[in-house]
Amino acid sequence: MNTFQYIKGKLFCDQIPLDDLASEFGTPLYVYSAERLRENVTHVQAAYAKLNPLICYAVKANENLALLQIFNEKGLGFDVVSGGELHRARRAGANPNRIVFAGVGKTDAELILALQEKINKISVESADELYALDRLAGELNHRPSVLLRLNPDVAPDTHRHILTGNAESKFGISLDVAHELRKHDWKNLDLCGVHFHIGSQIPDPTSISATLDIVLGFLEACPPSWDTLDMGGGFPVGYENERVVNSFADFAKVAANRLARFPRPLNLIIEPGRSLIADTGALLLTVQASKETGAYQTVIVDGGMNTLLRPALYDAHHHVLPLQETNKDTYPTHLAGPVCESTDYLARDRQLPELSRNDKLAVMTTGAYGYSMASHYNARPLPAEVLVDGDSYQLIRRREKHEDLDGLDLHI
Ligand code: LLP
Repeated sequence: MNTFQYIKGKLFCDQIPLDDLASEFGTPLYVYSAERLRENVTHVQAAYAKLNPLICYAVKANENLALLQIFNEKGLGFDVVSGGELHRARRAGANPNRIVFAGVGKTDAELILALQEKINKISVESADELYALDRLAGELNHRPSVLLRLNPDVAPDTHRHILTGNAESKFGISLDVAHELRKHDWKNLDLCGVHFHIGSQIPDPTSISATLDIVLGFLEACPPSWDTLDMGGGFPVGYENERVVNSFADFAKVAANRLARFPRPLNLIIEPGRSLIADTGALLLTVQASKETGAYQTVIVDGGMNTLLRPALYDAHHHVLPLQETNKDTYPTHLAGPVCESTDYLARDRQLPELSRNDKLAVMTTGAYGYSMASHYNARPLPAEVLVDGDSYQLIRRREKHEDLDGLDLHI
């Protein structure tokens, strides 16, 4: 069954009409399907079953605790990139032995937290970080398992803002430096493998194959105790298709073929984020105004780049659907937010029916990098989040109030 579909003219999430949720909880509102989330996890687990990796959900895609709990219950580990994400994963019940920590600018405090929590792997992204970690590990008397995040200098065909594996990128360690670091005698560290993540929305697995050639070439030069390979995330999501295309099987096949030619078995890790959660979510919005702007109907809604940043930041495409199906004529339409910025658009040049104040819309495929990138800009409280599970639903994060905006300010 499709997660989001019209039934008798109303847009549903599983068995719940979305306009009921908009009425009960107000808008902007993020709505997620628990069934779809579990289904996505089952897909990745099945596609990678033969390779048996530790599958770590990339918390940055959506860090709501209820959602993390579902991932935890489904047996996933967690990929975190900050002390805050590590804290959230632990709060959701994650076993530290299933947490990996990447991130290009880890502070001493974050490294200390990772050491104290005795997490599974710390992925180190620079020589400076490795020396700092060695010192801190000695002080705390805990010997962590460490991966070197390599920069393989490859550039898949994806938006330049989500590329991470090209030579100029700030992420990872160049091969030359990595070779130097691997030869060093680390007193307090157990260097045991490598990590790569070459970008997000990787359109096809060819660049993964090219990356594997480079990274496995490096691993072959390392002693057999280097037995771990973390292949990152980046599985693409079909934002412009009705039903999201699942890429796990294609990527797993490429990895399996290449790894079969490696001289020794490796412990694998993957870090899917978007692909597990993007298509579970929709953002519900209410029309505030509609005006004629040249050849377009410009529709202004109650959430914009503050609520969903992706269109403004990456020109990202998200389908827009009215909650009430209609067969009225459609018009070329821009969908704009309420923020005082000219870039505050959620969608441009779409065909939508005539819309007016209080009509409701859904912006689709917004489960990943939606809420997690939302901001308070223009002093707008963050929206609420609701989880639908079949025929029931619950609030999983309450809407912020104006007083929440003042919460941490100190009065003078
Ligand atoms: N592992 C690492 C080390 C990462 O940096 C990322 C994403 C992932 C895994 C998960 O990648 P995914 O499977 O979700 O593609 N805000 C952007 C995406 C930024 C991704 C950053 N790193 C967007 O909305 O498109």
